[in-house]
Amino acid sequence: MKSKAVCDEWSVIEEGFDPERHEASESLFAIGNGHMGQRANFEERYSGPSLQGSYIAGIYYPDKTRVGWWKNGYPEYFAKVLNAPSWIGVDVTVNGAELDLFTGPVEKFRRVLDMKHGLLSRSFVAEVGGGKIKVEAQRFVSMARPEVGVVRYRVTALSPVALALVAGIDGNVVNRDSNYDEHFWNILDTETEPDAGFVLAQTRKLDFRVGLAMRLAFEAGAATANHDRVEGDGYVAGKYAVSLAEGESATLTKYVAVVTSEDHDKEKLKSVARDVAVSAETVGFDMLFAEHAAKWADIWSHADIVIEGDVAAQQGIRFNIFHLNQTYTGEDERLNIGPKGFTGEKYGGSTYWDTEAFCIPFYVSTAPSRVTKNLLIYRYKHLAKAIENAEKLGFRNGAALYPMVTMNGEECHNEWEITFEEIHRNGAIAFAIYNYVRHTGDTAYLADYGLKVLIGIARFWAQRATFSQEKGKYVILGVTGPNEYENNVNNNWYTNKVACWCLDYAREAIAIVEKTAPRRLAEIVAETHLDRAGETTLWTAISAGMYFPYDPVRRIFLQQDGYLDKEPLTTEDIDPAERPINQHWSWDRILRSPFIKQADTLQGMYLFEEQYDRETLQRHFDFYEARTVHESSLSPCIHAVLAARLGMMDKAHALYLRTSRLDLDDYNHEVDEGLHITSMGGSWLAIIEGFGGKRVVDGKLTLNPQIPSGWKRYAFRLLWKDQPVEVSVTRDGVQILYRGVEPVTIAVWGKDCTLAPGTVLKLAREQSHLARA
Ligand code: BGC
Repeated sequence: MKSKAVCDEWSVIEEGFDPERHEASESLFAIGNGHMGQRANFEERYSGPSLQGSYIAGIYYPDKTRVGWWKNGYPEYFAKVLNAPSWIGVDVTVNGAELDLFTGPVEKFRRVLDMKHGLLSRSFVAEVGGGKIKVEAQRFVSMARPEVGVVRYRVTALSPVALALVAGIDGNVVNRDSNYDEHFWNILDTETEPDAGFVLAQTRKLDFRVGLAMRLAFEAGAATANHDRVEGDGYVAGKYAVSLAEGESATLTKYVAVVTSEDHDKEKLKSVARDVAVSAETVGFDMLFAEHAAKWADIWSHADIVIEGDVAAQQGIRFNIFHLNQTYTGEDERLNIGPKGFTGEKYGGSTYWDTEAFCIPFYVSTAPSRVTKNLLIYRYKHLAKAIENAEKLGFRNGAALYPMVTMNGEECHNEWEITFEEIHRNGAIAFAIYNYVRHTGDTAYLADYGLKVLIGIARFWAQRATFSQEKGKYVILGVTGPNEYENNVNNNWYTNKVACWCLDYAREAIAIVEKTAPRRLAEIVAETHLDRAGETTLWTAISAGMYFPYDPVRRIFLQQDGYLDKEPLTTEDIDPAERPINQHWSWDRILRSPFIKQADTLQGMYLFEEQYDRETLQRHFDFYEARTVHESSLSPCIHAVLAARLGMMDKAHALYLRTSRLDLDDYNHEVDEGLHITSMGGSWLAIIEGFGGKRVVDGKLTLNPQIPSGWKRYAFRLLWKDQPVEVSVTRDGVQILYRGVEPVTIAVWGKDCTLAPGTVLKLAREQSHLARA
């Protein structure tokens, strides 16, 4: 039976089972709670293609780099998010035959991811061993108790059956992307007790340890069960065998604790895990679920976006908000947000510029400021490593080059054009500090942490830019911009632009700290050996004298030197059957082509929009959108914001759907590898900054709300200086409810409105607001 995705406002629903879509669904229905997460692998054994994935935040493996030709400076390892021991398994046999959805007939298959309550459910009817059963499985990873996961597995006999359920923890897991087919885990200990089991696993490098304990509760009404323990190599389980008459049910509930040496003493993991599992069992499924659902209710109360009149758009944004919150909760500054979160192996679970450029704007407006602060502190703590990284590449004097891909501050990707050349990431890291400070008003952050990072970054740009005698300007050579379909280019406009901004902002931040915390400034100057006059003078000169490639005929900034030498094609010239081009064309052809993977020049115009008038933005948008294939998930959202800014609402809406439903509708044909978690922050941007027109102008929150043609209303909530602002936009106007404690001035459609705490502002839409110029 083929699967069918259903559009629903609060759930992801699959009707019917299609083995060909199985890995895609394993991604789409993934669950997580910040501490751990997993793909939606089946509880019962499945012999068809499946990407097994159960991940624990912060637990990774430095897999030795594998490259054809070694280049000096390559990182030693590529970090891998580890497929950790699996705790979901419930093997089912009926009349001695094993249930396997890949081989057996299955009907009435339905899978639901209830995003409101964070619950994954599945039901189906199967014929096995001459008997017929109905299965109903539910599971969640607790938002209230991050170390707890629960599975409830119920089998109802639709004919008399001899049923056996074997529920275990399995330490025999591998990564599909292991460079040398290595096993990454040692099993240090296993133990079974009646209705319980324990596995202690250790990573073969770095000595991370994880302890998994389970408690099992089996219930079969009047039927009596035979109970046994099963213990294999790295595997522990409890087995329950029971004969069920037609209509009778058996229910197995599995309470699991997943604890790690990152949070607990290595020697005590067994007792800690056991205690957590026992206490979960004592609380019971219903109460655990109630606590968990209450946490989700709280998240939704401040992060939800309501869209009326467009179910696909509504489902898309909730799917994105749900997964972002499943991936990162902001409680632990050692953690970050991998591009695939807990939904797949690709990108190794490492931190990319994605966090600063796409996720921080989401968290800074939807979660208390400490959440964003933790993300910034993560980079602050890696400053020494960023300086070391820059030194390895020949930079000096405290210049900091943050890694493009990292787990612990070290660069850990092995593609040279990414590790050495995508230096633009330094810009996003600096911009995130600025963004945090302007949204929260926490200037103390600069003195306490931010300024040192900004100085290191400014020093890097000052050394990386060189003076061209030929041009009489500063240039930045040999880079890869955000568009990864071009490598080793000179004067990537975005990189040059963001470099200048960093140099300017570092000077501004010094001035702010001088004013707000002069003594701290003196300490920072001493600690960083900053030659304040000499270095900042050079920073000013570079920023003022930077070269930007420009075409005077078209009056556009060029993405990089020589961009116009490329064939004058637009995306309309690509055969639709050859898209995405990265799955059809050779790499050589892609690099030569004029096609742009993701927002690049427009990424810069998005960041520094206030520097360009409408016509300039329009010219650049028209030129670059026509050449951009959006084959990075990070791309359509930025174009959506700009399209809305230009009043191109249908285009903005289409780009919004592309970004928010990227995975649900599998635009890039790769959802089986995992979800695009970091770009989900971009979907939020498309609504709030795109349709809502939210900006910060001269330190003031401003809104210019527009509404896509099919929508009746949309509503969102923002935190501004940690105070909630609730915005509802209809076709007729806008209503703002301010829930803060101090009066606030917000500019709406260009008009300053001062709101007292608890007041509601209602403004009618004038014709001119439909497409703001
Ligand atoms: C994009 C990068 C991004 C990475 C991880 C790549 O496809 O081009 O910009 O950092 O994915 O999301």
